[in-house]
Amino acid sequence: MLRFLTAGESHGPELVAVVEGVPAGFQIDLAAINNDLARRQKGYGRGGRMLIEKDEARPVSGIRFGTTMGSPITLVIENRDFKNWTKRMSADPADRGEAKVVTRPRPGHADLAGILKYDLDDIRDVLERASARETTARVAIGGLAKQLLKPFGISVLGYCVRIGANEATTPEDLNIEQLAHLTEDSQVRVANPDAEKKIIAEIDECKRSGDTLGGIVEVVASGLPVGLGSYAQWDRKLDARLAYALMSLQATKGIEFGIGFTAGRVRGSALHDEIGYDRAERRFTRHSNNSGGTEGGMSTGEPLRLRVAFKPISTLMQPLRSVDAKTKEEALGTIERSDVCAIPAAAVIAESVVAFVLAQVFIEKFGGDSLTEVTRNWQGYLEQVRSY
Ligand SMILES: Cc1cc2nc3c(=O)[nH]c(=O)nc-3n(C[C@H](O)[C@H](O)[C@H](O)COP(=O)(O)O)c2cc1C
Repeated sequence: MLRFLTAGESHGPELVAVVEGVPAGFQIDLAAINNDLARRQKGYGRGGRMLIEKDEARPVSGIRFGTTMGSPITLVIENRDFKNWTKRMSADPADRGEAKVVTRPRPGHADLAGILKYDLDDIRDVLERASARETTARVAIGGLAKQLLKPFGISVLGYCVRIGANEATTPEDLNIEQLAHLTEDSQVRVANPDAEKKIIAEIDECKRSGDTLGGIVEVVASGLPVGLGSYAQWDRKLDARLAYALMSLQATKGIEFGIGFTAGRVRGSALHDEIGYDRAERRFTRHSNNSGGTEGGMSTGEPLRLRVAFKPISTLMQPLRSVDAKTKEEALGTIERSDVCAIPAAAVIAESVVAFVLAQVFIEKFGGDSLTEVTRNWQGYLEQVRSY
């Protein structure tokens, strides 16, 4: 079973990811993982933090000569900003006096529920871990996961389809490579230059007025065989597992597969993806993909397509009303150095999380201790489906 844990605070010395269950024999391209980390750092609307960081994953276990060994893989990412926080984030009790205590919770963040739940005096103890800086580790893990999927022709891509008031329509019928080409160079990771201009203008306007922006990202995956996940038990359903993983991301508010909430408004005849059969290819086909590539908790063999809504960032430079947790007096929410809009980054993060879940269900179905064994199982299954 493929699983992971992350550890690390936003301004602590390092972020750590431990991934267990990776079979031996997979080639790991560290540069590709670091490229994903760089993609996560980009995007118009990010704050000053991203100018300080240059995220790079350092493997400290599980990879030898560029190949997985079958043992747990540990990736460590240094927080360069830690050098400015050594006293305030120190593990040494002697440094406690140096730290300014944060007492004004920001509406929309983990601050208030966090201090009450963990009985803490200082909101910093909450926000340091609740921060989306944690997703740096998850992007490194996603980068690794993509390399577990690559030998089997599975690709995953995330991009933005709405930021704030502006929808960025994506041309239909593009494959992942074409979509990547269009969105990768965009400052806001959209496939629509007209929408890009409007989005940048709205981000500028929010920056001027001390406000923040949310948005919607789309993730697509191609090359999936039919039958990943299972209808047999609630926690084995592919769509459910993707939704869980995606909703665990900071600031997520909703998820939809395929035509999503529209499914509640149209008739069955307009919605369900009719079935065909290609005799030459010996495979079942679909006349549409409104389901977004899952039925009954399993992949249909069509491209996966899902959308995730992220709320606007909760730190506002024009702070919202709050209460000082210590004095109980009215106060404004704390201001931390922050992004105005992080949706382009959220697209890379959602892509990474989807890649991990897909690698997880793939290894579950075709699992083995080595790439050779997984490949044999996968090829045998594909032939079984073809000769059905
Ligand atoms: C990529 C990304 C970057 C974020 N950056 C910030 C930030 O700079 N400041 C902030 O207050 N919130 C930021 N957030 C949002 C908070 O992490 C989020 O509001 C908080 O974790 C509570 O979210 P929840 O209610 O969805 O759990 C960011 C979220 C994402 C996905």
